[in-house]
Amino acid sequence: MDPYGSIYWDAGRVRLLDQRRLPAEEIYLEITDYQEVIQAIRTLAIRGAPAIGVAAAMGAALGALAMDTDDPVQFQVRFQEICREISQARPTAVNLFWALDRMLLVAQSQEGQGVAALKERLVAEAQTLLKEDETINRHLAQAGQVLIHDGQRVITHCNTGALATGAYGTALGVLRAAWEAGKKISVWVDETRPLLQGARLTTWELGKLGIPYILIPDGAAAALMGQGKVDLAIVGADRIAANGDVANKIGTYGLAVLAHHHGIPFYVAAPLSTFDFAIPDGGHIPVEERAGEEVTHLWGQAVAPAGAPALNLAFDVTPHDLISGIITERGVARPPYSSSIKSLRRA
Ligand code: MRU
Repeated sequence: MDPYGSIYWDAGRVRLLDQRRLPAEEIYLEITDYQEVIQAIRTLAIRGAPAIGVAAAMGAALGALAMDTDDPVQFQVRFQEICREISQARPTAVNLFWALDRMLLVAQSQEGQGVAALKERLVAEAQTLLKEDETINRHLAQAGQVLIHDGQRVITHCNTGALATGAYGTALGVLRAAWEAGKKISVWVDETRPLLQGARLTTWELGKLGIPYILIPDGAAAALMGQGKVDLAIVGADRIAANGDVANKIGTYGLAVLAHHHGIPFYVAAPLSTFDFAIPDGGHIPVEERAGEEVTHLWGQAVAPAGAPALNLAFDVTPHDLISGIITERGVARPPYSSSIKSLRRA
């Protein structure tokens, strides 16, 4: 169990740690309305692809609970509408759509049941999704930790720990498992502009886990690699195409190019729920564009002249040929990805 969790189901309510306020304050929001879950996802109170998936499922469960019809047919129609609304929260992390599809499938498979039984089943499914995410991440972490060697200095981007998942983490979970296996690693943490998930969240998690780290501005990675101070890079993913192209937090592509230039292994860690097998390559991944104020302002304080135009793409796509391996709960996919990803899916 983690000393903190990103999200829980608690007697008909969703409790989630408000990540906008970390590291200054550890405050849990108590949510009973699915539209508030949508807001929480949109404003990054909860974030990170697997955590977004769990939140979407719990939001759908809240929506189901609040329905006041006794007619199962009406229930199904309204439940579909609720899931459609939740699916608009953010566009890139495929876990959101994956989790909602799973909830819809469960609802459909219960045809013939009364509304009370349907509600109970959907609430149970959302909780199962959370539990499964922890198990998956622990498997993924074990598959990945063998790639990390004692004494290595590892660079990471954004936040991929327990906060970004149901529990334990993906890329950060791999580092955590390596540390728990007794390997004395240290971590270079990219601050991750503009919303500072590295500076605010990854440092907070590494501190709680007791893993040594040094926070760096995003622009410092090249210099550190050039000085021979980085042994390996590991990041998470928001969506992985069938050919192994990876969408992740803006800046990931740059880090991958740098790692390639310096001959440093570059790994991605993600559960199979982050793969979008339906899209052939990264060109098909919808990349979220967020408000320019997230770049021109820091906590309400302007850091650019008034009216400065800003482009705020939340993610970029790293081409598969820059990736040394993709670590999943079913093992590590290696190039050529089109076939290794297919085999993992079938395994
Ligand atoms: O905008 P965010 O904070 O939701 O972006 C998160 C990331 O890019 C993570 O690296 C990714 O979702 C993997 S989380 C295990």
